[in-house]
Amino acid sequence: MAILYAIGVGPGDPELLTRKAEKILRNVDVILAPVSNPADASVALTTIAELIDETRQEVVVHQFPMTSDRTALEAAWQKAAAMIAAHLEEGRSVAFITIGDPLFYSTFIYLMRILREQWPQIAIEIVPGISSINAAASLASISLVEAEEKMAVIPATAGIAKIAAALAQFETVVLLKVKPLFSDILELLKQTGRDKSTVFVERAGSARQLVLTDFKEIELHSPDYLSLLIIK
Ligand SMILES: C[S@@+](CC[C@H](N)C(=O)[O-])C[C@H]1O[C@@H](n2cnc3c(N)ncnc32)[C@H](O)[C@@H]1O
Repeated sequence: MAILYAIGVGPGDPELLTRKAEKILRNVDVILAPVSNPADASVALTTIAELIDETRQEVVVHQFPMTSDRTALEAAWQKAAAMIAAHLEEGRSVAFITIGDPLFYSTFIYLMRILREQWPQIAIEIVPGISSINAAASLASISLVEAEEKMAVIPATAGIAKIAAALAQFETVVLLKVKPLFSDILELLKQTGRDKSTVFVERAGSARQLVLTDFKEIELHSPDYLSLLIIK
């Protein structure tokens, strides 16, 4: 049976793709790209666009809605898993592409679970990608952790209480998915005196990338979904 590849395409800069990812993406039969909103372009697909040969490769854009409705999510995962299995059973290799790394807060993790349970015969090869956190730290030229320091990574959707607890325990806190709670997070950072050691990074690796280190500028900015905060 053909192989399923999970490819981390990095944060959005085509030059931050690994050579292994490039080799597989040039050779695979089907490329499956996730989108949360069908009206938006897939960032992962845009990142690898120059490698695709549509005369020999099929590109499938599949919607995974951004919702906490478990039934809707499971339906989307199940549909994608069945589609992947059908291609593989017919001998076509598939690459599921994901921004950053496939095992780091990625839809691929849920898909992998379903595939392992329902199609255990499918061989899966995972190619790591540069995560948004590493890309953001490089752009801002700040260390994430050194020596005995500890780092917490929290999707901000976990809530302000969990963020406050992490700030009290870890030398570095990275917050993903900051958009919905942005003003509450900034308020907390001011209250805890971490405002002077906060970096905001949006769309790292893309033409629209933005790095802000001045807290006043961070406060004036309205973030989009692809943004994070590194708090030292
Ligand atoms: C579902 S997680 C995906 C993480 C991804 N798998 C990775 O390895 O970076 C989505 C969150 O990652 C962060 N993110 C992903 N790509 C980013 C980018 N290019 N610039 C800034 N933040 C990004 C944002 O916080 C976004 O809300």
